[in-house]
Amino acid sequence: MKKILITGGAGFIGSHVVRLFVNKYPNYQIFNLDKLTYAGNLANITDIEGKPNYTFLKGDITDQVYIDSIFDKYHFDGVIHLAAESHVDRSITHPMDFIFTNVVGTAVLLNAAKKCWAGDFANKLFYHVSTDEVYGSLHNDNEFFTENTPYDPQSPYSASKASSDHFVRAYHNTYKMPVVLSNCSNNYGQNQFPEKLIPLFINNICNNKPLPVYGKGENVRDWLYVVDHARAIDVIFHTGKLGETYNIGGHNEWTNIDLIKLLCDIMDKKLGRNAGDSAKLITYVQDRAGHDLRYAIDATKIKRELGWEPSLQFDEGLNITVDWYLQNTAWLENVTSGAYQKYYEEQYAGK
Ligand code: NAD
Ligand code: TYD
Repeated sequence: MKKILITGGAGFIGSHVVRLFVNKYPNYQIFNLDKLTYAGNLANITDIEGKPNYTFLKGDITDQVYIDSIFDKYHFDGVIHLAAESHVDRSITHPMDFIFTNVVGTAVLLNAAKKCWAGDFANKLFYHVSTDEVYGSLHNDNEFFTENTPYDPQSPYSASKASSDHFVRAYHNTYKMPVVLSNCSNNYGQNQFPEKLIPLFINNICNNKPLPVYGKGENVRDWLYVVDHARAIDVIFHTGKLGETYNIGGHNEWTNIDLIKLLCDIMDKKLGRNAGDSAKLITYVQDRAGHDLRYAIDATKIKRELGWEPSLQFDEGLNITVDWYLQNTAWLENVTSGAYQKYYEEQYAGK
């Protein structure tokens, strides 16, 4: 029996990780800790609610008293830490939210684990989930981020994630805390909040709203299907080497404009529109401040050492994703109208 705390499990990636662990490891007790910010939605994991090895905890990772109290109560053996503020555009307008949640919140969790484990680290693990954005921006086609690429974060989001990564490594170095980290490229898939590129554009195409392409649409991202990321997290949690970092990526680079045109073509077919109709919605808008030009992951280490590689081709994953959004209009409406937030405010009033 292992007790594992997963933070941010009501969010996009966290919900896929929680689902995988609850279903695959019935002998583990999975505790999903989430504050249910705008990005957290328990509707993402209704299928595992009520499973005997699953417990939801509503709480804030920046609240040291609360976090200490749950470590005291449950004595977790492992932590998989995903809770974060995750959207670059929001970090530009509200940087302090990112500093509190991503930096302070990670330090609070590290402190709680250190206190609870009290130097007895046998069979304990703190797994920190991070992003490729900490490495900054690439400018040459033949360059890739490896685990040894120096950190060079450019946005308040990536600076806060870089800072949290440094704290995790510092606790390993200073206190011998057993840690492992991963830095992943852009994820896409079911249940992604429609502020990120792919779900926002799917939603806008459905509603015939403009598709706001930042700058010239020349920025490059490396896209990975979210379930493949969850599989990688499982592999790293169970077989990753202590103190190590693993880069995770899809070997799947697209300029934004090419990806958007592909998405428009898929949507035209699925919605029965004339070819080219959705692409007419493309609208070039002012570029994001400090917009990183290119991210690209060298994922050879995780393949060589742990045997993980992506399982889905991009066209397959994108089709599954589009179908999911078209079939789950109630989820999308709930999220875009904000109705899900009102529901949680009432359900957790005073807690
Ligand atoms: P998300 O925004 O969809 O979900 C974040 C979750 O964290 C939400 O459920 C939210 O309620 C919760 N949360 C936020 N602040 C909290 C707090 N103070 N206390 C407790 N819970 C809180 O994010 P995501 O896209 O699923 O990303 C998850 C993790 O993966 C993040 O750490 C992110 O940096 C990392 N990551 C994301 C991507 C990506 O493409 N989305 C890529 C690489 C790494
Ligand atoms: P996003 O999904 O926000 O992820 P990230 O910034 O973490 O890579 O954006 C992906 C890319 O799409 C990024 O280069 C910014 C661009 N983008 C747009 O052009 N328009 C948009 O409305 C959004 C949300 C993103």
